[in-house]
Amino acid sequence: MIALGCDHGGFALKQEIMKHLDDRGLAYKDYGTYTEESCDYPIYGEAVGRAVASGACELGIIICGTGIGISMAANKVKGVRAALCGDCFSAEMTRKHNDANVLALGARVVGPGLALKIVDTFLDNEFEGGRHARRVALLNEIESGNE
Ligand code: RB5
Repeated sequence: MIALGCDHGGFALKQEIMKHLDDRGLAYKDYGTYTEESCDYPIYGEAVGRAVASGACELGIIICGTGIGISMAANKVKGVRAALCGDCFSAEMTRKHNDANVLALGARVVGPGLALKIVDTFLDNEFEGGRHARRVALLNEIESGNE
């Protein structure tokens, strides 16, 4: 299950992503926002972050105008590794090396064609483990130090 979330700036792209996931036969849950009315991105970044961190969803995709604010919000949730990607190379490497569990997109930065390629690249790559697992464990240690 893929968790989806956006603010008003990401609403139209989220609709395109949902259609794309439907075409691919992939299940998702939409955590809002549900209209183009102006709203606050931290609410939706947190909602998707909590869905992923709790295990309710395996991965998340979040979208705002730049992708920055909503990724900051998701990354405040313990266990979330949200990666803002504007290219396919980053989307591939953040799954393989960082075990990113949330993809953030900027709807005012990337066009829908590229955004869907980035989504596919993110979903179709796996964490490589090995030396990268040690580094992800170090990220988790930093997080634990905040408690
Ligand atoms: C909303 O205008 C905009 O600030 C938001 O979508 C996002 O870009 C914030 O980081």
